[in-house]
Amino acid sequence: MPKLFHYDNIDSTNQECLRLLAAGHPAPFAVVADRQFMGRGRHGRQWQSDSGNLFYSIALPVEKPLRECGQISFITALCVRQSILASANSPIAMEFKWPNDLLCGGKKVGGILIEHAAQKGNRQLLIAGIGVNLMLSPLQTAFPASSIYQESGQSIDRNELADQIGQRILNALDDWQKSGFAAYRQEWLKSAWRLGQKITISDQKAADGTALCGIFLDLTPDGALLLQDDEGQTRTILSGMVA
Ligand code: BTN
Repeated sequence: MPKLFHYDNIDSTNQECLRLLAAGHPAPFAVVADRQFMGRGRHGRQWQSDSGNLFYSIALPVEKPLRECGQISFITALCVRQSILASANSPIAMEFKWPNDLLCGGKKVGGILIEHAAQKGNRQLLIAGIGVNLMLSPLQTAFPASSIYQESGQSIDRNELADQIGQRILNALDDWQKSGFAAYRQEWLKSAWRLGQKITISDQKAADGTALCGIFLDLTPDGALLLQDDEGQTRTILSGMVA
């Protein structure tokens, strides 16, 4: 289990990990807060962070070249889903939206923000920030949002979930460094939202200037999204917002 720092209210658990690393705390360690007043999401968005949901970040020492580190976001998403299931009383159906959103009932209930804190050769310090809507669903989101409670009627114990996530991520990190990404990729694909169906990458443009649309074909071995666009070309998407 990673050492866990707990705060009632903090700007951002990711930011606190950065501060603790700068102050010399050795990774791995984790930070959890009851609420955040400057919670951040992907693409520079704000993450609404009122009491009742999970705000958790874990600082990880990773023995991998930087180009492979995006894989940790899929591994984190898998660990978060396993941890929710292990903390729940009965099964809850959840899917993954590329690259690392967690959906329940087709709505977003969890997000992951990976930040790179430092590099020394092939050794990275990464922060995996995890937000799970346990009770509350944020308003006015880009993609429809909900909470685990609203979708399943189950109240997940936040402390138990934080412990589960910490343990599972450390185990998976060890396994990934030894055995690679292939098994995680397979597992993720089994629950990939809209695999084989039409999607839109809202922040990438097609040749005519409109949002890029096409069929979600597959993941590359590294976790990029393969899209067959409306002109029939296969494109490799490295980042973007899928809807
Ligand atoms: C997303 O945009 O989907 C990613 C959201 C990540 C939110 C979590 S909450 C805990 C951690 N601290 C932050 O400021 N952000 C992440």
